[in-house]
Amino acid sequence: MTTDVTDHPFTLEGKTVLVVGASSGIGAATSRLVNSLGANVLLASRTPSTLESVRDQLADPSRAAVLPMDYLEPESVTSALKNIRNVDHVLISAVADENKKRGAFLKLDEDTMRASFDKFWGQVNVVRAVVPRMTKRGSLTLLSSVAGLAPSGADSGLSVMNGAQAAVIQTGKSLARELAPLRVNVIAPGVVLTNVWKHDEQRSLAEWMREDLPVAHVGEPEHVATAAVAFMVNPYVTGTVLPVDGGLLLG
Ligand SMILES: NC(=O)c1ccc[n+]([C@@H]2O[C@H](COP(=O)([O-])OP(=O)(O)OC[C@H]3O[C@@H](n4cnc5c(N)ncnc54)[C@H](OP(=O)(O)O)[C@@H]3O)[C@@H](O)[C@H]2O)c1
Repeated sequence: MTTDVTDHPFTLEGKTVLVVGASSGIGAATSRLVNSLGANVLLASRTPSTLESVRDQLADPSRAAVLPMDYLEPESVTSALKNIRNVDHVLISAVADENKKRGAFLKLDEDTMRASFDKFWGQVNVVRAVVPRMTKRGSLTLLSSVAGLAPSGADSGLSVMNGAQAAVIQTGKSLARELAPLRVNVIAPGVVLTNVWKHDEQRSLAEWMREDLPVAHVGEPEHVATAAVAFMVNPYVTGTVLPVDGGLLLG
């Protein structure tokens, strides 16, 4: 067999996984899952103390290291990765204050509009710095949003952000060709209850998900973590965009 599928495809034993945005939400859930499946995990975000708390709650904290970085600063990313080699899989799930970047298209100030693309540029910074440090048959998983596939409603205030989410998808698909045989995939979450939502918003969103989504329950970071691991362990999947949205895109 030429690929690394074994009788136990859902293992990450001996693999090294970098998670950017590991201190919270989808990144923290993925860090816990990959570590429980045997991976060494590199936990990256801006805040060492929160990364340390995630590390301390892993199944095996001795197979984890904390890598403070600001993914919006290329020098910060390269400096955090300077002694890192042989990374097998990468998940980039960082996002800075996403909900602060919304507003009516004709009223948004220019700085806020441009900041809507921070997430796109942060992912670019990480990919450029990490690819030379990866094993040849590894994988990169980028985080977009269902809004990158079907733009959110007219009054969502997210017209520019929706463009940024679509940019992540198209760049991810392009990189699946350009960086091959490295695999590149994109996850497009629907609503997932994490710190991107304020406490009050989480309560009303939970009610809406239970009543209106086909799955009739809330979306949790662990649901997205499972999709991220599926991309890491399956050597035949690249250039794929996977909604993890409880059926939201069905309309
Ligand atoms: N939750 C949802 O409903 C939803 C829906 C659609 C798409 N998504 C996407 O899913 C991804 C993960 O979101 P989430 O809900 O898990 O968010 P989250 O819980 O708010 O976590 C965001 C993570 O990003 C890190 N971060 C923020 N700014 C950073 C920077 N400049 N450099 C490095 N790390 C930074 C944060 O840690 P520090 O503060 O320590 O840096 C934190 O670990 C994002 O791409 C988001 O757009 C989420």
